[in-house]
Amino acid sequence: MQYGYFDDNAREYVITRPDTPYPWINYLGSEDFYGLFSNTSGGYCFYRDARLLRLTRYRYNNVPTDAGGRYFYIRDGGHAGGDIWTPSWMPMKSALDRYECRHGMGYSRISSARNGLAFSQTSFVPLKDNCEIHKIVLTNESNADKDVDIFSFIEFCLWNANDDMTNFQRNFSIGEVEVEADGARIYHKTEYRERRNHYALWAVNVPVAGFDTDRQTFLGLYNGFDHPETVFAGKANNSVASGWAPIGSHHIKAHLKPGESKALVFVLGYCENPDDKKWEKPGVINKAPANALLDKYGSPESADKALAVLKEYWDALLGRFSVDAEDKRMARMAGVWNQYQCMVTFNMSRSASYFESGIGRGMGFRDSNQDLLGFVHLVPERARARILDIAATQFPDGSAYHQYQPLTKRGNNEVGSGFNDDPLWLICGVSAYIKETGDFGILNEKVPFDNKDELADSLFAHLKRSFDYTVTHTGPHGLPLIGRADWNDCLNLNCFSKTPGESFQTTANFESGVAESVLIAAIFVFTGPDYVEICRRTGREEEAEYAVKAIASMTETIKAHGWDGNWFLRAYDAYGHKIGSNECEDGQIFIESNGFAVMAGIGLDDGRAKKALDSVRERLDTKYGIVLQQPAYREYHLELGEVSSYPPGYKENAGIFCHNNPWVTIAETKLGRGTRAFETYTKICPAYREDDSDLRRLEPYVYAQMVAGKDAQCFGEAKNSWLTGTAAWTFVSISQYILGVRPVFDGLLIDPCIPASMKGFSVIRHFQNAVYRITVDNSAGVEKGVKSLTLDGKPLNGTVLPALGDGRTHEVKVVMG
Ligand code: GLC
Ligand code: GLC
Repeated sequence: MQYGYFDDNAREYVITRPDTPYPWINYLGSEDFYGLFSNTSGGYCFYRDARLLRLTRYRYNNVPTDAGGRYFYIRDGGHAGGDIWTPSWMPMKSALDRYECRHGMGYSRISSARNGLAFSQTSFVPLKDNCEIHKIVLTNESNADKDVDIFSFIEFCLWNANDDMTNFQRNFSIGEVEVEADGARIYHKTEYRERRNHYALWAVNVPVAGFDTDRQTFLGLYNGFDHPETVFAGKANNSVASGWAPIGSHHIKAHLKPGESKALVFVLGYCENPDDKKWEKPGVINKAPANALLDKYGSPESADKALAVLKEYWDALLGRFSVDAEDKRMARMAGVWNQYQCMVTFNMSRSASYFESGIGRGMGFRDSNQDLLGFVHLVPERARARILDIAATQFPDGSAYHQYQPLTKRGNNEVGSGFNDDPLWLICGVSAYIKETGDFGILNEKVPFDNKDELADSLFAHLKRSFDYTVTHTGPHGLPLIGRADWNDCLNLNCFSKTPGESFQTTANFESGVAESVLIAAIFVFTGPDYVEICRRTGREEEAEYAVKAIASMTETIKAHGWDGNWFLRAYDAYGHKIGSNECEDGQIFIESNGFAVMAGIGLDDGRAKKALDSVRERLDTKYGIVLQQPAYREYHLELGEVSSYPPGYKENAGIFCHNNPWVTIAETKLGRGTRAFETYTKICPAYREDDSDLRRLEPYVYAQMVAGKDAQCFGEAKNSWLTGTAAWTFVSISQYILGVRPVFDGLLIDPCIPASMKGFSVIRHFQNAVYRITVDNSAGVEKGVKSLTLDGKPLNGTVLPALGDGRTHEVKVVMG
């Protein structure tokens, strides 16, 4: 069953009923201020860091789910006693005559109606300002006059979200607010009296009848958000919070004639003052930054204008890569939603979603490098800055902090290092950046090691140490040592954890010097050639020769010790036993090493690549995607770690861990099997499962990290949407390998690999200051192969479009055959 539809012209997903199988959310914000916003107006917002600077409170794992957000209660006085309802459905679960939620690019709009009163709420974060705008429009659609009371409601978080949820002995005594303009302007200033120099603002642009800032007064101690005493009483109490739980609520009265509308603008903002300008007078905060925001967004027209500017921003961004094809699901995912999700993973990393609490992880070294593959074509300058931040957390020996903190940009000591795949992802990220931009200059940037300036060296030196780290950390078979784990965080082969609750990721680890990873070897062979090219193109011929030899030798090692007869092995454990072999009882075949080895081109020459992918298909494929391994581990294995801790079918234990499915897609294109490549693409692509939303449960417009595998009770159910490396890799697979528009060091390679039944498609691609309008004709019905290619009407020698950089638009006609 479907709960909505795609409005492709508006680039919106339109949710048509509020009771979606899970909250379906959107992200507001593009630089420093962000809001998570669900289809029932749930969620919260923060400035820069979801843990340390959270403005509004949100309770994860709450009952009912998704309670708390920016709420508006309506008391429609036209009925006896007033008809009280919440137009976003939650929190009162009001029966609505109409409901629709449109999630667009950086904004959402909820529209609903009941008893002749229409409501719309447009919510977004304007570019460059640190606030959420909620523009409300009420319209009297009935034939009689209406007297309407509107109560706004938000609950303030006491900034540090972790502390907010735990430290009640302190927190119940520190909450402070200030109120101005008879209550139209509410300021949350907890801890401002001491070391904070920022406060939050919740304001409305019209006069109010009253306000509340104390939660208990507004709701009643034993009430939920669905029964606020104040709204039922029809009158605000003008409560001023002192300790306990500060909230912000405005009471506004409106008289509406038939057909009349009233618009209100609410601003939920973050304001900061310099230390010496904190106070207006003793005890009174300096409102200058708040006033500036409110002057700017003081009218419905100014809100509309800001939204128009935001739309232009997204039009320009997504205009950099767009697709037109008969298959609308593919076109909208590749051209719009997949890229949108890539921008969200760029902004959020793995911090704040409805599955990531915003107080846990920092930014991952490996995650951030991979995320970059999905947004480097959109915001290359920001990708450049990101690369330099990431590289600064590398250690002098080439290894890296596994995570770093977004606010400080420093490596995270709590998690430490030792994930031996990490260094190679830096080569992968930097290569993608250079191919996209041609900016070899980045290699000369001086970048610290271990965040220490005195250890700074060129970015190129960082790449060399990444490369060398793999070369010098090999085990008994000559394969790379796995360390704490490789890409599969849960393959903890040196962990041997027996203590309940101990984190597999951070617990004391020993280095067996034996446990090896075939996946790291394959990543090395995949990304190594880019390192070679970088060396050659910067005059480092000797280094290039050395790297070529190392890659060739690793390839031989994989063939000798990483092949199981019908597929690639996954690893060797700390005893030197095989993992991912037909000799194993469970976990006989894994997806990652097979996808990556073929992506790296290993076995294309001797039939092993085909054999490996056929084995993957035969043993791991399901109708909802490819599971991570089979058979699922049925018992906990001390020597394997977290992978065997999950019940069969979930997460890394034979779940469909979507991130690695596109590796198989790309691998299939290496074999030229376009139909199969497209099949693996569509199986995990959310738009293709839109009418199966009851089972899949999560948003049909974004990828999820995991879909439960065939061993699980809820085979096909998705979890952990939005913040996943799946976004970047699926975008790479569809844009670069299926549609085949791929940046290479010499320009833009055109190399489509599509189903024989796909008659053609077109792509508009901005690349290094020129625009390429690429039309691909596959009336020949082949899966791969370019018969002819013209650039601006002239036949081109080869299939690489040169970077013309002339700011003009160029026509590219491609005929497959
Ligand atoms: C999570 C992690 C990622 C890891 C993957 C597989 O998505 O963020 O770093 O590679 O799980 O374990
Ligand atoms: C857990 C998850 C894994 C994730 C890791 C990162 O092990 O299963 O997917 O990568 O945590 O902290």
